[in-house]
Formats: sequence, structure tokens, C-alpha cells
Amino acid sequence: MKNMVYIQSGGPTSVINSSLYGAYKEASLHPEEIDHIYGSINGVEGLIEDKLFDLKAEDPHQVELLKQTPGAALGTTRRKLPKDIDDPIYMEIVKNLKKHNIGYVFVNGGNDSMDTCNKLSILANKLNLDIRVMGVPKTIDNDLACTDHTLGFSSAAKAVINQIYAVSKDALCYKVGKTHIIEVMGRNAGWLTAAADLVPEDGHPDLIYLPEMKFDIEEFVKEVEKIHQEKGYGIVVVSEGLQFERQGKNEVDSFGHAQLSGTGLALSEILEQRLGLKSRVVELSILQRANPFLLSLTDRDEAIDVGRFAVKAALEGTTGKMVIIKRLSSTPYVTKLELANLDLVANAEQKVPESMMLNHHRMADSFREYLRPLIQGNVELSYKDGIVELTTFKKEIVK
Ligand code: F6P
Repeated sequence: MKNMVYIQSGGPTSVINSSLYGAYKEASLHPEEIDHIYGSINGVEGLIEDKLFDLKAEDPHQVELLKQTPGAALGTTRRKLPKDIDDPIYMEIVKNLKKHNIGYVFVNGGNDSMDTCNKLSILANKLNLDIRVMGVPKTIDNDLACTDHTLGFSSAAKAVINQIYAVSKDALCYKVGKTHIIEVMGRNAGWLTAAADLVPEDGHPDLIYLPEMKFDIEEFVKEVEKIHQEKGYGIVVVSEGLQFERQGKNEVDSFGHAQLSGTGLALSEILEQRLGLKSRVVELSILQRANPFLLSLTDRDEAIDVGRFAVKAALEGTTGKMVIIKRLSSTPYVTKLELANLDLVANAEQKVPESMMLNHHRMADSFREYLRPLIQGNVELSYKDGIVELTTFKKEIVK
């Protein structure tokens, strides 16, 4: 009998803990094959530093709450593993895998995290370790290759749409209001920004700028001026990853990606300089991905299913694969789960295709058809004294 370790990696989402829940529930059904179910504290760092805790030792109610808890309950990391598989860090990992009799490793993350997963799989193969390594997809950016969509994207999209709709009602209540610049996450991929196109007509943004579209600052200024003159206010949705000349701090995270927030502010300054126009910047920021109140039930349930599927596949002998979602139909919405090779997913970036974009005002119908089923269904939350209940683990380190 072997033990399993679950790793959460990269940026958190509203449903990453639901995949952990699914994996935990499935693994618990097979005590004859999987004994301990360990969580690695702060992603792969827990495996390097020997910081694992036993999920079965946690309060079962806290485990249930994973289904409505955003963030990454195990702790996450953006640490990249070295290219050279002979690097001493891998020996630390192997030592700890052996120490805890690990037979199953699950890495729940996006494209950089699938690189970590792939490296662990290569390591297990190279050293002939009896360990199955599986990827569980996640990222609000929806930029993973091979899968129809990623877990966490749908809830983030639902949060973006609903929050912009609410902001629009605030924006239009004065006779002469402000231009609202709403900044959306997603890095170099515009999936989340594009979601703004699903805001109903009575609050629909005037302008939507994806990083995949050509962005001309002169045209942007002219468009905003025209809208302000016509309506007295405006709603402009911009992706954090828009490319234009600006003064910046050039900070990068440990995966090596530029830290992108500040796009809305930079554009607001440009509007003030060029037009003397005061605008209001709304950074949806973490409320896009840490928002239990706007969870998509579809996303939450798919996240659980994908976690379960990964464990089932590993128990059947699969290794070196990531679970992918294949869409069979949008109306009615039908999908099936399959597996893709990790090396096809690791580090690859899936952007919004041209066929789904129309212009700076509208996305194509194909995009709306793609997104609509993903945001369906609401999750009923449990509250205590008027406050939503969220998981806290004791995390007692296993000796
Ligand atoms: O994980 C993806 C993401 O949410 C991006 O959309 C965003 O650019 C980035 O993470 C922000 O990362 P952090 O929270 O580590 O600053």
C-alpha cells in the first residue's frame, strides 16, 4: 500500500480546493491502495522541505468546506523547478517521496505548474520509482493547452460579469459621471476580459480591450472622449496584459512572469493628461478569483469531478498525464474527461482565437456560446453568524 501527496501550485482560484476535495473523496474510497492522503504545504516546496500534513487528520467539516473556500488551502507556490533533472533539489524530493512511501503525486495548477508536474513525472521515470504523477488543470486565465477550459476560469468569469454589471449601475446614476476603467486579470490571455461581453445590454461595457487585440493608445483616447461626450460616463474594460508604453516597476514573479497590475491606473493617467478627464479605476483584482459568492456551480462540480478523475486514472495505472475537459456540445452542455500528455501542456499558452473576437465593443457569438454554459448554476453556501464558513486546516507536519 502507498500514500498520496497533493500539490496546489501557481495562482489560487475559487475552486482549486474543490479539486482537492474531489481527489480526497475518491482516494478515501480506496483505502486498500491509498493509505495516507498528504497535502504538500506551499506546493512543491513542501516536498522539497519535507512539509507534508495528513488530510485525514483534519476535521471532516473543514474538509467539506473546501467546496466553498477560495485560495489554496494547502498553500501554493510559483517556484519553478530547475531544468536539469540531476540538480540536487531533485534528490531532496526523491528522499522525501521515499520517506513518506508516496506512490501517487497530484499537481493542481496552470501551465507553469504542469511544467513542475512534467518534471516530477520525468524524474519518477528516470529513477524507475513506483510513483504515478498526474496533473489537475486550474487557472483563472484559461490559457492551458489541450483542454476546453480550465477549472477556476468559469467562476472568475462569472465574478467579472456580475461585478461589472453591478458597477455599471453605480456608474450611470449621476447626470455627468466618470469613465470607469475596470481592470481584469488574465496575464497575456484575454479570456477573462472577454467575459465582460456577457454583461447584459443595460450595463454592457462601451469598450473591451484584450491583449490579443491591437491596442493603439491614440485610438483609445479618441474612443473614450467620444463615449464621454455622448453619454457623460463610460465603462471601459481592460486586460491587465495590454501592451503599451508606460512607466512601470518591471517586477516579475518566481515563475518569471511580469507582475501586471496597474494597467488601469496607467490608462487613467493618460486620459487625464490628454483629455483632462478624471476617470475611476476599478481593479477587480483578487475578487475575481477569491469569490465564493459568485461561484459557478458548473465550475465547482467540474473541479470536483476532475480531481476524482485524476485519482481514478492514477489508480488504473496512468502517469505523466493531465486531465482535460472535452466539450461535446454547448447546447445542451455536454463534456467528457480525457487525458493529455503533460509535455503538450507544460508552459504552452492558449490565447483567445481570432474567430472569437469581433472588435473593441463586442466579442463574436461563438465566444458567448462558449462561455454561457460555464457560468451556469449558483452554489448555496453555509454561513455562521452571518459570515461565510471557510476552511482552516491545522496542518500538523508529518514526521
Ligand atoms: O494565476 C493567474 C493570475 O491570477 C493572473 O491572472 C495574474 O496576473 C496573476 O495570477 C497574479 O498573481 P499574484 O496573485 O501571484 O500576484
